[in-house]
Amino acid sequence: MTIPEPADPALRSMIEQAIAAAGRAYIPYSHYPVGAALRTTSGAVFTGCNVENAAFPATICAERTALVKAVSEGQRDFDLLVVATRNGGSPCGMCRQMLYEFAPALRVVIADLNGRIHAELRLSELLPRGFGPHGLE
Ligand code: THU
Repeated sequence: MTIPEPADPALRSMIEQAIAAAGRAYIPYSHYPVGAALRTTSGAVFTGCNVENAAFPATICAERTALVKAVSEGQRDFDLLVVATRNGGSPCGMCRQMLYEFAPALRVVIADLNGRIHAELRLSELLPRGFGPHGLE
């Protein structure tokens, strides 16, 4: 697929990886594929898709799949998340909270499966006054 934007090749690659991850979504119930690409500050990229379950609440979102893959591989510093859905859907509250733990200032790009960017903002804007590790001090 040809993705028309953006010009930034690194961001373009991240969008392509998020879209490819959406293609691996296990979604027999919602039929709503979500793909995520999460980049570490050292430039490694971890992708994730949503993985649903017959016991519906056991489903894990694409963003948390990517995050848990990364953290379990020893990564904790992130600078960019791209999320791709067919309609430019926004990360859910649970994913915002889990990402906030590691990267409150994370740059978040919300795209669709054609590569069009719907929004670009900081995680702290998606989760204002979020509760993070310092909240327990
Ligand atoms: N989903 C995600 O993967 N990420 C989000 O942030 C929103 C929702 C998934 C969960 C479920 O598999 C499907 O989208 C419909 O809710």
